[in-house]
Amino acid sequence: MNIPMLDLKAQYASIKTELDAKVIEVLASQNFILGAEVKSLEEEIAALSGVRFAVGVSSGSDALIISLMSLGIGQGDAVITTPFTFFATAGAIARLGARTIFCDIDPVTYNLDPSCLEEVLLKLRKTRRLGPVKAVLPVHLYGQVADMDPIMKLAGTYGLKVIEDAAQAVGSEYPGRQGVRKAGAIGTLGTLSFYPSKNLGGYGDGGMVLTDRVRLAEKLRMLRVHGGIGKYYYKYLGGNFRLDALQAAILRVKCGHLGDWQQMRRERAEDYNRKFAASGLTEAGLVKTPVAVYKNSGAREYHTYHQYVIRTKSRDKLQARLKEKGIGTSVFYPLSLHEQECFADLGYKRGDFSVSEKAAREVLALPIYPELTAEQQDEIVGGIKEFFAGR
Ligand SMILES: Cc1ncc(COP(=O)(O)O)c(C=O)c1O
Repeated sequence: MNIPMLDLKAQYASIKTELDAKVIEVLASQNFILGAEVKSLEEEIAALSGVRFAVGVSSGSDALIISLMSLGIGQGDAVITTPFTFFATAGAIARLGARTIFCDIDPVTYNLDPSCLEEVLLKLRKTRRLGPVKAVLPVHLYGQVADMDPIMKLAGTYGLKVIEDAAQAVGSEYPGRQGVRKAGAIGTLGTLSFYPSKNLGGYGDGGMVLTDRVRLAEKLRMLRVHGGIGKYYYKYLGGNFRLDALQAAILRVKCGHLGDWQQMRRERAEDYNRKFAASGLTEAGLVKTPVAVYKNSGAREYHTYHQYVIRTKSRDKLQARLKEKGIGTSVFYPLSLHEQECFADLGYKRGDFSVSEKAAREVLALPIYPELTAEQQDEIVGGIKEFFAGR
């Protein structure tokens, strides 16, 4: 049985009629940049995420860049983030000339560890290097929101802005001090990615910035059109960060199915958990299954499983064996960002973020999508059991 890591064709087949009609509608309108479709999508995503404003942009990476720009972050500033994330999180900080300060992750959720954040902040204060630090940038990895209450509290104490990188967590919920809030709705700003493989993916690049702050929303709208105020007058130095109408129209169709798809992902994840428990692999300590820390907390979307990530010391050999069997898997991410060549100038070295480094050696993402069948999941867990039995 061939089981791909991701099967977007199956999803397209399930919504083809609705989607094709919408694409033809946009072609007939010949309106391609921003416009009514983008505005409607912004309203729908703002409602879905429980924020006042949503600003459609060209990608999740650009959503991060434009968010930092809107807060005036650049040369001479510093931003604290996790080293266990997609490159774009730290890349955006560096692109603006600011310095990235990494902070280790929680070994269970893989998200920024608030106690490490506190340690880093205390150390910066002690060594009088706190001045340049302007923001914290937590990432909601794999579809589970970082522990935002202590992060927000620390940000408040130290006067820092908070940008949530919610690229992998559209619609995910966090049960906290403010009640149950959606990913991207807790900090000063939140960012989303509509990269095709995301839970809400377009047919090209796209992203969005979420905020409750009217001034920031206005500034973001200007920054995405070169900083323009009206036509050919420029208040800021912005860029071309526009979302296009075709993407917005496609995403609006998909938005209508997102709730069902998220539920199906959770069901597939629960099925995996049960199958792994029954296999004896978890009890034997050979495989660790993901932990949904907000389950039973009153949050319905306690996890949206953008990825279902297991952990094992035999990761590379297991991945190779599954590949031989035709089972696709991925490693998000094989190298902690502080060890990446392009960040060498930050002066970090191996051993500085041991939790992140260990995760990079052990994590393995298995196929998870609404169309994944019970038989396919049996095949995957069976293949993993066979691997460990044959060692
Ligand atoms: C955590 C995280 N941040 C940022 C991004 C960047 O999004 P995009 O690929 O839409 O630029 C991604 C997407 O891969 C991501 O997973």
